[in-house]
Amino acid sequence: MMEKVTNDISNIGVNDREITLFEGQYNVEKGMAYNSYVILDEKTVVMDTVDKRATAEWLENLSEALSGRTVDYLVIQHMEPDHGGSIMELMERFPKMTLVGNDKTFAMLKQFYDIDIEGKTLIVKEGDTLSTGAHILQFFMAPMVHWPEVMVTYDQKDKVLFSADGFGKFGTRDADEDWTCEARRYYMNICGKYGMQVQMLLKKAASLSIDIICPLHGPVLSENLGYYIGKYQIWSSYEPEDEGVLVAYASIHGNTAQAAKKMKEILEAKGAKKVAITDLCRDDIHEAVEDAFRYSHLVLAASSYDAGVFPAMENFLNKLKAKNYQKRKIGIIENGTWAPSAGRTMKAMLEGLKDIDIAEPMVTIKSAMKAENITQLETLADSMLGK
Ligand SMILES: [Fe+2]
Ligand SMILES: [Fe+2]
Repeated sequence: MMEKVTNDISNIGVNDREITLFEGQYNVEKGMAYNSYVILDEKTVVMDTVDKRATAEWLENLSEALSGRTVDYLVIQHMEPDHGGSIMELMERFPKMTLVGNDKTFAMLKQFYDIDIEGKTLIVKEGDTLSTGAHILQFFMAPMVHWPEVMVTYDQKDKVLFSADGFGKFGTRDADEDWTCEARRYYMNICGKYGMQVQMLLKKAASLSIDIICPLHGPVLSENLGYYIGKYQIWSSYEPEDEGVLVAYASIHGNTAQAAKKMKEILEAKGAKKVAITDLCRDDIHEAVEDAFRYSHLVLAASSYDAGVFPAMENFLNKLKAKNYQKRKIGIIENGTWAPSAGRTMKAMLEGLKDIDIAEPMVTIKSAMKAENITQLETLADSMLGK
């Protein structure tokens, strides 16, 4: 179904309700949207294509939007296959269409496809404009948000920012859920590493007068834009969004889990504003990464394993590291029956991360939590909460 954005602009994107795993790793219980936009002016423009999972439905939407007209320009803002996946089909249908992108775009296009684009491209650079009649499209490079060829496009007439993956979320456009939670999980896991580059893009966007944001995933944003931009400011600066603690545990037989749950109770009793808890072996790992970035404090509780740390915790810490986790206070709880190794392994993995403050004491449980461990957890909670 196509969806009107302004008089001249429609979203012809597709809601993928069949997909369960996006990009081979993200659980998307509520599906995924691949947005694509048509601008009808003296010249017609398509802004990005869709994943090849959705080509047929997208082409139907496109025909409906065009009602017999041709496509003059395809603007390629991002070459990742969830957006570049239907470029070949569009070129077959409209052989005279001009491809608009930057030099990196076309290098990638030739990597993905055996294709002759000689004489079919318009190469744009930072700040270049393309007039399509009444609309003037201006291009801004957004390198490494989150691929090198990414650019965003500003329509000066309708004051629309086509923001590529920026401001996208998991879930279909019509998914009945909070924008913030799924946009945060998307941002932290997909763009999280590139906070500095996102900040640079936000600076460019701040000089534009924007009424509508058209991302490549999730709903079109047309109200209260300061809210969404504010969230992106916080997320890309790695500052905590909320005062609170995430307790993340990886437990083999349940004893470490018991200590983690006790820690949650103690933190709550001592007045922590919000305490979230996640079982790293069973809960959504990408939600755990999201919450680690969301809250100001993190508690890690893990069993020792193979003279290291239980794999679910190792996986979690590797992910945090890859996403440039920083500026947080962390408490550590380890468990081990003969030679506990989880604590020092976790500490070693946190080394090199910026502005990480490890709270004392590290709590060591030998097999199962005892009364003395509870006292240690209380001391750790006090130090976490600055008491
Ligand atoms: Fe992407
Ligand atoms: Fe995408």
